[in-house]
Amino acid sequence: MNHIVSGIPGLDDILGGGFIRPSTVMIAGVAGSGKTTLTMQSIFNAAKENETCMYITALSEPIAMVNNYMSRFSFYDISLLGKGKLKYVPLDHTMVGTVDILEDIEEYIGNIKPDRIVIDPVNVLTSRMDESKARKFYYDLFTKMKEWNSLVLITSELSEDEICKNELSYLVDGIIYLSNDKFVDQRVRHLEVLKLRGQLYLTGKQSYSITPDGLIIHPTFYPGKSLPVSNERVDTGIDELNKMTGGGLIKGTNTMISGGSGTGKTLIALEFVVSGALKGEPGVFVTFEESPDLLRNNAAVFGWDLDELEEKGLLKILYTSAYQADINENTLEIKHLVEEIDAKRVAIDSINGFQSSLTDVGDIKKHMYILSRYFRHKGVTSMFINEVSELMGSSQVSGNGIAMVMDAIILLRYVEIEWNEKSHLSTENAG
Ligand SMILES: Nc1ncnc2c1ncn2[C@@H]1O[C@H](COP(=O)(O)OP(=O)(O)OP(=O)(O)O)[C@@H](O)[C@H]1O
Ligand SMILES: [Mg+2]
Repeated sequence: MNHIVSGIPGLDDILGGGFIRPSTVMIAGVAGSGKTTLTMQSIFNAAKENETCMYITALSEPIAMVNNYMSRFSFYDISLLGKGKLKYVPLDHTMVGTVDILEDIEEYIGNIKPDRIVIDPVNVLTSRMDESKARKFYYDLFTKMKEWNSLVLITSELSEDEICKNELSYLVDGIIYLSNDKFVDQRVRHLEVLKLRGQLYLTGKQSYSITPDGLIIHPTFYPGKSLPVSNERVDTGIDELNKMTGGGLIKGTNTMISGGSGTGKTLIALEFVVSGALKGEPGVFVTFEESPDLLRNNAAVFGWDLDELEEKGLLKILYTSAYQADINENTLEIKHLVEEIDAKRVAIDSINGFQSSLTDVGDIKKHMYILSRYFRHKGVTSMFINEVSELMGSSQVSGNGIAMVMDAIILLRYVEIEWNEKSHLSTENAG
């Protein structure tokens, strides 16, 4: 299959390589979900690769306004407009809602011969038509589109429920739905491919953000093939732990460190990563709990200079606030950091932090599974901290079923030791 790149970071992974030409893909979504940004980003990036692109709009707002808004994104390049690689085609207002508009569009296409066309938004074209007239218009439009031999991206302001009922859905080759769902007190953006004729695509909701560089999609990634578990042991940096585990953790496995607050979980994980880095084995420390400054200070108490290790490329600290972060974005960022420094050790502090960044994208077990399989694939030895709220108990060891995807569990707990004045005195006397 002949794929052409979408020009949107992360989207080609979801589409199974990119868009197909010729085809018509509808970008549907609620107001402000990023439909204009996505389509503009796609044509600007395609025009940079020497495609001829065309942006058709019939909005009541002048094209200058849309252009001005787009000029704030880094993908914008005014020279492409000058060179004619990208053409804005504002449709005549008085013609919108009439069948003659189709002839107008055809004439532009005949002259420009574009590789990629955007119609943003498409519904405006039929705004003044009754239902049967609109249906006929769309039918004609889509018949013509097949002759254009281009990738046509049309945008449409539709909610998820409206999509299934909308006749455009039957006519287009693909549907990408952008949503802006409410999650607790914030909104989370999700992209989902609902249909893509003749292509194998990644199903399910994938999160995305709109940044100064445009849309960035954070797809769930395939962790890769698991390598066979080796016999090699990884020195944890903690003598007692090495003894307890029969000589250290097995390379490529993951260990859950479960325990209550203040039992030393962070310290164990930090020592594990730092001791590796000191021996020249790069490591990544992911913290939701403590800011990097606090972590640096705590490390300094033990004589570890985290800045120095970072400068040498032996350590990466990823600090991400649990409530703002997005779980897919987090897992991808960890993957990038592991690849950037070729990490051999990773510590996640903590699974609970991940849990807070979880929207309805899936369950925590799935994400921890992906991450742990990825580490296995890379031969990375990892520690996942699980914060247990009961100080003395051990009932939450399993961490919401995540224990199932872990290779080992270490439980840290306070032990209640009977103490009374008498025994204290008698010990003293004995001493
Ligand atoms: N530089 C930026 N950084 C982060 N977010 C941005 C930036 N610029 C724009 N946005 C976001 O992009 C959204 C609007 O995107 P866009 O205009 O592409 O949406 P749309 O789906 O086309 O909207 P409409 O339904 O009004 O046509 C805004 O809601 C805003 O939150
Ligand atoms: Mg728009």
